[in-house]
Amino acid sequence: MRKKIVAGNWKMNLDLNEGAELVNEIFKGLPELSESRMVLIAPPYLHLTQTAAQLTAMDNVYLGAQNCHHEASGAYTGEVAASMLKSAEVAYVIIGHSERREYFKEDNAMLAKKVNQALSNDMQVIFCCGEPLEIRDAGTQNSYVEKQIKEGIFHLGESQLKNVVIAYEPIWAIGTGRTATSAQAQDMHAHIRSVIAAKYEQDAANKMSILYGGSCKPSNAAELFECADVDGGLIGGAALKAADFLGIIEAMVNA
Ligand code: PGA
Repeated sequence: MRKKIVAGNWKMNLDLNEGAELVNEIFKGLPELSESRMVLIAPPYLHLTQTAAQLTAMDNVYLGAQNCHHEASGAYTGEVAASMLKSAEVAYVIIGHSERREYFKEDNAMLAKKVNQALSNDMQVIFCCGEPLEIRDAGTQNSYVEKQIKEGIFHLGESQLKNVVIAYEPIWAIGTGRTATSAQAQDMHAHIRSVIAAKYEQDAANKMSILYGGSCKPSNAAELFECADVDGGLIGGAALKAADFLGIIEAMVNA
């Protein structure tokens, strides 16, 4: 009933030639994706038009951006507006990645505006949340993540919420090789779904895809994706190698 998704976030990696080659390799090994499965590729901005052209040959593979600006247009040197992304055939925008929150000081109020920009330009949002290690060690991760979700997306109406996917990415697991256990992932995903159900209808919560991110790889993807509330993954490092990314896609197809 809800979609299983594998999304590749290339971050600030690969030049145009390397990007084109990676997408080509993914295309060659891509399994058939039914309507309940989808793959997303989120390259750097510079790649978007090139990647969009390559993706026209693939069914159920969508183009994502890693960020957008929180204003519609104007004097913001070096920035990219949501409307520009839409014109480049971007379907999904990743908003609130922990690297954006930490290195670029994006707070929940700014992220709420970015969410509005993406949705008002008819794109879907992958809204990221997740706690740092000290919060996990203190055992307060549930309330920490709940606050991120409340302040980032709870201003949306239920019809808008349909266009939001949540990605739970514990910061201590991103790029560290230390994956959350499937029990830790399932606990948090069930919590996130209950937070959504308490604010919106249970049906809206049931329909929302919630992705796990943080050192996901072919060897642990199947176990994570088997969890009842884990609907796929947001993949960083392993999205840069076709064989690894395809291995994770395979796990999602079989889940
Ligand atoms: P990772 O990154 O897979 O390299 O841990 C995940 C992410 O930041 O989206």
